[in-house]
Amino acid sequence: MPRDVVTIDDLSEDEIQHIFSLADEILATQGTPGLPHRVRGRLALASEHVLATLFYEASTRTRLSFESAMLRLGGQYLSSADPKTTSTAKGETIADTVRVVENYADAIVMRHPCEGAVRVAAEYASIPVINAGDGGHEHPTQTLCDLYTLQREKGTLKDLNVMLWGDLKHGRTVHSLVYGLARFGARIIPVAGQGLGLPEHVVRRLHRDYDCTAVPPEEMGAVEQGEVPLDVVYLTPDKPHQRSLFTDLDGQTPTRLPANAFSSIDACYVTRLQRERIVGGGQPGDYTVIDKQFLEGKRYRDSKVLHPLPRVGELGYDMDNDERAVYFKQASYGVPVRMALIAALLELRPGLLSKSAPKRRHLEYHRQTLKCDNPLCVTMLETEQRYLKQKYLVINEEDHLLVRCVYCEHETAPACVGHESTRKYAPNDSPLDPHPDLVFFNSPAEAKAAGYSPSRE
Ligand code: CP
Repeated sequence: MPRDVVTIDDLSEDEIQHIFSLADEILATQGTPGLPHRVRGRLALASEHVLATLFYEASTRTRLSFESAMLRLGGQYLSSADPKTTSTAKGETIADTVRVVENYADAIVMRHPCEGAVRVAAEYASIPVINAGDGGHEHPTQTLCDLYTLQREKGTLKDLNVMLWGDLKHGRTVHSLVYGLARFGARIIPVAGQGLGLPEHVVRRLHRDYDCTAVPPEEMGAVEQGEVPLDVVYLTPDKPHQRSLFTDLDGQTPTRLPANAFSSIDACYVTRLQRERIVGGGQPGDYTVIDKQFLEGKRYRDSKVLHPLPRVGELGYDMDNDERAVYFKQASYGVPVRMALIAALLELRPGLLSKSAPKRRHLEYHRQTLKCDNPLCVTMLETEQRYLKQKYLVINEEDHLLVRCVYCEHETAPACVGHESTRKYAPNDSPLDPHPDLVFFNSPAEAKAAGYSPSRE
């Protein structure tokens, strides 16, 4: 089975560090004198390989840096940058497209406007598939560039205070990044524009899957809020020792943070309003502009300023000559990081990745009794509905069960849960262990229509 990178969770922490070490090595040997973040020349590592870049949405950095990375590894690339010129315009499905392209290339990089589209590509292709951004879902290779930049600039990811600015609701780079930061033990400080906070399912997952503790401002003790309207801070206690920093000795009661916990912000990650994902285009509203004046305070003295780019007004041009600005370096790191990722996936440098992806911790649900309700999910596309089956992971919440769409990763709580063995169903409102015998329904009417009867009258 080829390894794919569709979400940041498709790589373990060790694998990410292996990729970073190879990127370091590439920069050490192939860096430009005076500009050590910029790769020059060509290696002969991928001289027998071809990369296909299939972009169904606009891109400058991701596509060109992948193509540059492949060229600098000594390989070749095939590029499809305009969906109107491919057979997608005639109604060809994602599954068919990748089963054709796998005959022309050794790996596929895909960007698509639908959430989960790249997971579909990965399921059907027999060669590695890399997600270059799927709707508002994830952009894992941007996260690799972001984490790599932070690690090079700050020496570590652990315990960094990372402030995330802007459109945290629609920004796919942020959705991958928060999971990455949590896994490496950084503290996440979301400062969203009005109505643009992290999606509920992302927040739930930070708590449940990554052990984050949310600390509302009123419980932050002596933390100086300064000029920043902090909504909540997601801490990422490392298991088990760091947890004691935030909990009483019994491990239950949250305590106050050290007074100086947020007195210094290590990084500000600025993002633009994702107008293309907002019905009607969206208005900037109270969107904060991060510029020199904004970053005057003492707490930002050592803050590195990152941005996945493009910027469209939320990041002042007066920052460009400020030594805290690292966003162009971050874009430049796209080449060595993507070179290292391609080398890892094509096994040009063996041993960087394990044979199989990190294991999913949740039970899979394959019965066709539910329909993902995310209008942007790939399962909503008419073309893909010809063959694509609904698939979920079953998540155990304390007093009910949730299902997470395997493609777009949105979570919902089905109204009813039945047991196939007894043909009985009940409301999904009590603790229950995930089990292959379970059957989910969107309503009692659907349960009854499927031949199930209520276990409580
Ligand atoms: N950061 C990023 O994804 O940029 P592009 O949209 O230009 O690829």
